[in-house]
Amino acid sequence: MYSFPVLLCQIIYVMRNPKDNVVSYYHWCFNWAAFKNPKSFEDFLDQWLAGNVGGASWFNHIKDWHGKRDQYNILFLTYEDMILDLKTAVMKICCFLEKDLNEADINKIVERASFKNMKHDPKANYEFLPEDILKKGQFLRKGKVGDWKNMFTVAQNESFDQIFEEQMKDVPLKFIWDIDQPSY
Ligand SMILES: *[C@@H]1O[C@H](CO)[C@@H](O)[C@H](O)[C@H]1NC(C)=O
Repeated sequence: MYSFPVLLCQIIYVMRNPKDNVVSYYHWCFNWAAFKNPKSFEDFLDQWLAGNVGGASWFNHIKDWHGKRDQYNILFLTYEDMILDLKTAVMKICCFLEKDLNEADINKIVERASFKNMKHDPKANYEFLPEDILKKGQFLRKGKVGDWKNMFTVAQNESFDQIFEEQMKDVPLKFIWDIDQPSY
């Protein structure tokens, strides 16, 4: 019997809480020449909720991949877990990829993969891209968990929560919406 090669693939699926996702995406649009500047955050949020953005609906994307978790070999990680405990995330990835790294190498990866160091790393921050593609050094912005609170109105937060609950009611995933952390 023919077995589909994707079964052998190792897929790492990284999720971010959707309120920070939409805020990050909104800012991101201003920095890429190929994207239209959003009219307003309010308008962008409506488009995002309707799935009228590149990558389509966040809800469907997560539900489709999470629904196939028994079928494919997928490691699910969240951005928030990486912010809270990057080392554990790196060790999970090593384990998933069956890479037996020593402590020193793991620590080196953790050091290089911190948001702060990636933001200052010209390669990770895509500083080599010409300004007519990406505004210089603007790929990584704040990286903060909970920055959505600076953009969402009280009403947007409440209606988002209702939509989230309805959309995700059958999905056993928990998201972290806020973490106390320094800004970079
Ligand atoms: C967002 O709305 C929820 C209720 O849907 C509420 O519990 C929470 O405190 C609100 N958060 C903020 C930051 O307004």
